[in-house]
Amino acid sequence: MFENLRAQPEDQILKLMEQYRADQRPEKIDLGVGVYRNSQGVTPVMQAVKSAEHQLWESQQTKGYTGLAGDPAFVSAMSDLVLGTDLAQARRAGAATVGGTGAIRQGLELIRLARPDATVHVPDPTWPNHTAILQAMGMKHRTYRYFDTETGALDMTGMLEDLAAVPEGDVVLLHGCCHNPTGADPSAAQWAQIAATLQQVNAMVMVDIAYQGFGDGIEEDAAATRLLASKLPELVIAVSCSKNFGLYRDRAGAVLVVSLSARHSAAVQGNLATLNRLAYSFPADHGAALVQMILSNPGLRGEWMDELTAMRDRINTLRTELAAALQRETGSDRFAFIGAQRGMFSRLGITPDQVDTLRDAHAVYMVGDSRMNIAGLSMEQIPTLARAIADTCD
Ligand code: LMR
Repeated sequence: MFENLRAQPEDQILKLMEQYRADQRPEKIDLGVGVYRNSQGVTPVMQAVKSAEHQLWESQQTKGYTGLAGDPAFVSAMSDLVLGTDLAQARRAGAATVGGTGAIRQGLELIRLARPDATVHVPDPTWPNHTAILQAMGMKHRTYRYFDTETGALDMTGMLEDLAAVPEGDVVLLHGCCHNPTGADPSAAQWAQIAATLQQVNAMVMVDIAYQGFGDGIEEDAAATRLLASKLPELVIAVSCSKNFGLYRDRAGAVLVVSLSARHSAAVQGNLATLNRLAYSFPADHGAALVQMILSNPGLRGEWMDELTAMRDRINTLRTELAAALQRETGSDRFAFIGAQRGMFSRLGITPDQVDTLRDAHAVYMVGDSRMNIAGLSMEQIPTLARAIADTCD
């Protein structure tokens, strides 16, 4: 029967990862997949994670199953991290998932159970896996305007116009912070306008928040999600611990749901447990247990916050330095937006051919839409990179 299988479209980001690994040129620069690297070019295990692993090794008495929705203490810790403590607990439900991608999938599965015909509106552009998952699930989807390629900034007018035209009951997917792939986020005032528009059209909102703490801080990066939770009757949130806890391969994440009442929350909770059962029974617990330990232990939490702050500061310094180097090399402010944006990514705004030239002639790897993972750079690479970009864009 396998002769009936069609070849699957390749994931551009993961393909690039393979190409980079195979490249023998020592000067190669990887700006592809979204992983943080320190000044030695290593994606480190955070010290707080190491300490939690040590404690877990000493204290864990069983590897018996957790619940279908994962360990409630982990879900509750994630819920407070993202939503803060003001929102009524009775309106919350949630489940541990297999990473942030698992959270997106389970959130969309929940929405599909509740409203199979809903169209999901995603930003143009968005993380390619959003559309790939929607496509694979057979869910209707379309884009709303988000980004102005000319200015490298948010297209706020286009976005508000498109959101205002979303039919009641459709779903709007938003990036909670550190937009992937553009790095362009709405300001606090713009988020207030977005929330008001979504309230008016009565859309179901889903937030994907995978980079909390990588933009301006843990609290600051959650502000938009918290605003939406306070204004809207319902909200689905997909959270990842891959980046801010550095737990990439341990696949820790959570889907959090805000509902109108305790009765709705109970129904949501039951459905989330069933969705996990149908996909993989119990979600993985190792990474989740570490996160729960870190968030509930003031010493570990402080250590983690300090490390996260150092990572964020490093990314922001790389941004400033790269923007300055590009200014010097090109003699223009064309790439100044890199210094102002937040999170791991910025989109350079060059053509796919120029992206190919950067790879073939300069061993610089970035995604075809010219998304760069700035968190993958080192200070030493900046002058070479700026020169290569200036050469290619001449
Ligand atoms: C990225 O966008 O590079 C990351 O979220 C990793 C991935 O799975 O694509």
